[in-house]
Amino acid sequence: MLRLQPPLPDDYTLATPAQLEARIAAAKAELSDRLLILGHHYQRDEVIRWADARGDSLKLARYAAENDWASDIVFCGVHFMAESADVLTGPDQRVVLPDLNAGCSMADMADIDEVEEAWEQLGRVIDVDRLVPVTYMNSSAALKAFVGTHGGAVCTSSNARAVLTWALDPTGSGEAAGDRVLFFPDQHLGRNTGFDLGYRASDMALWNPRRPMGGLEDSDVKGATLLLWKGHCSVHQRFTPAHVEAFRAEHPDGIVLVHPECAHEVAVLADEVGSTDAIIRAVEGAAPGSTIGIATEIHLVKRLADEHPHLRISCLDPLVCPCSTMFRIDAPHLAWILEGLVEGEVRNRITVDEETARGARVALERMLTIT
Ligand code: 13P
Ligand code: SF4
Repeated sequence: MLRLQPPLPDDYTLATPAQLEARIAAAKAELSDRLLILGHHYQRDEVIRWADARGDSLKLARYAAENDWASDIVFCGVHFMAESADVLTGPDQRVVLPDLNAGCSMADMADIDEVEEAWEQLGRVIDVDRLVPVTYMNSSAALKAFVGTHGGAVCTSSNARAVLTWALDPTGSGEAAGDRVLFFPDQHLGRNTGFDLGYRASDMALWNPRRPMGGLEDSDVKGATLLLWKGHCSVHQRFTPAHVEAFRAEHPDGIVLVHPECAHEVAVLADEVGSTDAIIRAVEGAAPGSTIGIATEIHLVKRLADEHPHLRISCLDPLVCPCSTMFRIDAPHLAWILEGLVEGEVRNRITVDEETARGARVALERMLTIT
């Protein structure tokens, strides 16, 4: 999806870090309680230091839903997170994204037309009334609305297990009543969670939206409990079993922490698989002197290494792997947004139209109720 971020005035791009720091601090102080800055763990240090609350995507969605005091929410993260915050906040609250080009390549791998087409094709083979759509938070509001209006829920990397259990265990909740799940857009989170719940490879089928009928035979669809959309995160897909093996060879007592967007071959070799928040908790709980190899975005890994000098923390991929879209949010964009708010100009507001928001809210609130 093309989103256009106008270039910033020179006043921002040419400012020194010290000038930007002073300007951000002044604008933040002036905006006071009407402002809430939310920051995802993958943000740069020059941005996350200003966050009133930082978290993984679930925690940030909860902060947005619970915040009823700030009228302006500056979301330092990516577009789908800001959309979800808009859906979960009140009509008088405004959500802004400091750089409109901060999208997510994984979220762009499933669009509403493709999902509706898949649903229609699946309906020719199986009873879609018993098919529960589950979308990863990393998806557009339109997909969340589709899920909400078809009896499904959103999940994040920290509650995918609970949401899939809800979707496939109607006796547990009495609501979803599904015997199959269509999970999008991240095949890896779906597969890792499926294995974690005890499903086998033969219970899962990969739906390729570029191929007729997802590239599957009718018998594949009928035999699958989990239909996994063929999407991935380009950052996490870089990690390979060879990275884990090299780390273990060098540090036999080392601890390996892996985000569930990594491929299953990597996840099975880990000591712990979890969301960005779970990775942080595992680091905080590690014994002093531990050596830890982490498979996730480099800004979080570097920050953890800086904040825990008594631990030896490194990224499992020796080549740096930043999320290029999270990286777009920087101090000049944050200063531009905040000074705009001080001047009464709301820049880069993210809005979801009311009809889409209604459906998306159902799917997001189901997730918040489940977990
Ligand atoms: P978390 O839910 O772990 O924060 O992950 C979000 C994300 O986009 C990871 O790539
Ligand atoms: Fe999207 Fe991957 Fe970046 Fe997360 S790390 S925002 S999934 S591209």
